Amino acid sequence: MTALPVWWQKAIVYQIYPWSFQDSNGDGIGDIPGIISRLDYLNDGTEQSLGVDAIWLSPIYPSPMVDFGYDVADYCNVDSRFGTLADFDRLVTEARQRGIRIIMDLVLNHTSDQHPWFQKARASRSAPERDWYYWADGKDCWRRPSNWNARFGGSSWSWDSFSRQYYLHSFLPSQPDLNWGNPALRATMFDVVRFWLDRGVQGFRLDAINWLGKDVRWPDNPIRLGWRGYTRQTHLYDRDQPLAHEVMRELRSVISAYRDVVLVGEASADTVGGPAAFYGNGSDELHTVFDFRLLKSPWQADRFRTVISAAEQAVPSGGWPSIVLSNHDQSRHIDRYGHGGDAGRRARAAAVLLFGLRGTSFLYYGEELGMRNGTLRYRDLRDPYTKRFWPFRVGRDPARTPMQWDASAQAGFTNGRPWLPVSDNASMVNVEWESKDPLSLLTLYRHLIRMRKSTPALLMGSYIAMESGNPHCLVFMRTGKELTPPDSDMLVAVNFAARTVTCFLAGPERTGRQLLSTHQRNTDRRPWTSGRFDLQPDEAIIVSLT
Ligand code: GLC
Ligand code: CA
Repeated sequence: MTALPVWWQKAIVYQIYPWSFQDSNGDGIGDIPGIISRLDYLNDGTEQSLGVDAIWLSPIYPSPMVDFGYDVADYCNVDSRFGTLADFDRLVTEARQRGIRIIMDLVLNHTSDQHPWFQKARASRSAPERDWYYWADGKDCWRRPSNWNARFGGSSWSWDSFSRQYYLHSFLPSQPDLNWGNPALRATMFDVVRFWLDRGVQGFRLDAINWLGKDVRWPDNPIRLGWRGYTRQTHLYDRDQPLAHEVMRELRSVISAYRDVVLVGEASADTVGGPAAFYGNGSDELHTVFDFRLLKSPWQADRFRTVISAAEQAVPSGGWPSIVLSNHDQSRHIDRYGHGGDAGRRARAAAVLLFGLRGTSFLYYGEELGMRNGTLRYRDLRDPYTKRFWPFRVGRDPARTPMQWDASAQAGFTNGRPWLPVSDNASMVNVEWESKDPLSLLTLYRHLIRMRKSTPALLMGSYIAMESGNPHCLVFMRTGKELTPPDSDMLVAVNFAARTVTCFLAGPERTGRQLLSTHQRNTDRRPWTSGRFDLQPDEAIIVSLT
């Protein structure tokens, strides 16, 4: 009784960081006309292209770009660096012709301090917009209203010398938090949602949703002794409030007036109840929520097994998982998982997980090429968070370097000077080169995407963990027999060790055909049996069971 999958359950979603995908006018910054010119790479309907079904665009709204677009100054327009609303409309049309849908990034928790709402709020205590943000007097004389600290460092409170009160910001001081307790703010923001849906957008990736809502009595957060920075306190009162769920339920009802719209949430891994809490009862909050446990996991079979099971169990019936290994806030997974091992081989095995696990696959631009974290000097850095913790944390800029299209001077990204330097390895790691190489990571991604899309068990089958008799081996099955019409059961096995391992599955012997190995060119459909099978170092395989 499996329901027919809806488009976004089957979708391969490609995250574009607009700054870095393709520049069309030589200013060194990616833009919408640039994205349009590269749509065929994502999906031109042939086997040569990647086969992407949707693009998630990181914010393209007008912004002072202190947080590179996550500080929005106008929710109903396009930043002039990226183009115009007309360019955006053309993107929607051109993408649709290729079967690609657009998912917008929506930042609900805060605006830029340059947003007219905040400008009005700051200009007068009696402006209606004043209450769209959080304001408070200092405690006693000079102390901040509470001890809350901000995600990107420092206090969450900044003094506004003009209106002589503190305002709240959970991220940068230039990102004042919105007060979702205010009905007019809510109504206005829901109009923003309709504005984009009316333009043909088919989904939203919702930024930092567990931050919506605060305890406005401003109690101090409890201190955690021995911890530093953001984790020095338990964030009891400045996030994870019930209001966030109320807003998600309202948003769900707003979008239900439109067809086929998906809501994807980004919540902190340590949010109360886990990210799964944002599924609500399975059909009244978000359709799907990123579970960052996989992304945060070290490259160890037992750790992966544990987090995959936890993530599977967390999704309520009616909800749907999302698989994400890299994004614009994290070090690239080829570097993260690859640490201390053969990064290239592990990246191939990770690709098998991305498309083999149950859930919508999200891939981050350049991941399919094996783009590495850029080696940046301090003077190259642009992101305030990266600068603040440099060189002690990798930060975010290294994962935001320009897309590597070819071996030319700026990797085909721009004719000008790119906003972040192109990686040194662009002469080998690029679309043009990898397209010709049957053993490249790009070829593997193309192959895996086609296989996933044509295999109902990989798309919709249940996840069943299998015992492999070897601690370094992660084995699971995606069931096909229960589907209507039935499909073969598919088995996925990944060797996390740097040496050859022998595995076997307990229980009655099963046989099948190995459809794919990360170590081979591709399909030779060799026979496979569960009684004993070997996996080479870092090898991942997909087997169709008979
Ligand atoms: C989210 C975004 C991140 C941004 C932050 C504040 O975590 O992914 O890039 O800086 O929210 O908006
Ligand atoms: Ca440009």
